[in-house]
Amino acid sequence: MEPKTIKRIGVLTSGGDAPGMNAAIRAVVRAGFYYNLEMYGIYRGYEGMINDEIKKLETKNIAHVLERGGTFLKSARSAEFRTPEGRQKAYDNLQKHGIDALVVIGGDGSLTGAHLFFQEFGIPAIGLPGTIDNDLSGTDSTIGFDTACNTAIQAIDKIRDTATSHDRLFFVEVMGRDAGFIAINAGIGSAAAATLIPEKKMPIERLVERLKARKKAMKQSNIVIVAEGGKSGGAAEIADKIKKQLPSYDIKVTILGHLQRGGSPSSFDRVLASKLGVAAVEGLMQGKYDVMAGVINNKIVYTPITKAIVDDKEVDEDDFRIAKILST
Ligand code: F6P
Repeated sequence: MEPKTIKRIGVLTSGGDAPGMNAAIRAVVRAGFYYNLEMYGIYRGYEGMINDEIKKLETKNIAHVLERGGTFLKSARSAEFRTPEGRQKAYDNLQKHGIDALVVIGGDGSLTGAHLFFQEFGIPAIGLPGTIDNDLSGTDSTIGFDTACNTAIQAIDKIRDTATSHDRLFFVEVMGRDAGFIAINAGIGSAAAATLIPEKKMPIERLVERLKARKKAMKQSNIVIVAEGGKSGGAAEIADKIKKQLPSYDIKVTILGHLQRGGSPSSFDRVLASKLGVAAVEGLMQGKYDVMAGVINNKIVYTPITKAIVDDKEVDEDDFRIAKILST
């Protein structure tokens, strides 16, 4: 598309926060200043766009945010933005501030919002993949995924200590909504006895057999990683089913939950977020609209938002195979 002249960019974070969002905002704002643009922060995602929580950003707003978890612009899931009336209000507020382009940092719901907005009002918008779930196509890794995996693995290491001391079987539930990316990495990285993900069926009988075989091999403690969102239920439900078949096992359940979303971003996420922040501003200046910037094989790639959110990004078959080989 022929690039429009852009003077003021609004940046927002939306949906579940992810470590590295602050680093991404900082990079967007710094890149904007580098190209002599005015930068605006839209607080609380689309909700803030509707309620006019929009402020001009200065250098001081982005000082010492790169290393902080969460998002200083705050985040929200907005039901009102899903309505045409809500989007009209949001558009009117952007007009009021003279904002002529948007950078939206978030997961698939957030990027869908950016796409709709571009379709309806023609506002140049570019998305950045910000979610711990890693479930967006068009990028090898989403911002926050690496940190969330590190956090999960560090927590599981601690669970391993107590599991070993007591010869216990632990079911550890990790996040990912309906994708098993965090689970697979956590499973490989923590030597789990098994990893259950929504994308693959694992009959309870097979898990029972695996646990029995490990007992025979004198493996005293076992950790089973369960991704949330699986059809067979969460860690607690699976633990109940196993207890019925292996009543002598001392079983415990830990749900890691939101701690996976917090914390200072890893070096990988800081660098990814920084590269993508610059790519977002440069993409907008080059007329790349309605796309998501991602990194594939260490190169910046712009993928139409519709493709990034719709194409099912699959857990790597090889990763799944490796997890299986290493857990038997
Ligand atoms: O999308 C990120 C995520 O943390 C998912 O892994 C999880 O299913 C969901 O958000 C939890 O959302 P909330 O914080 O709204 O409960």
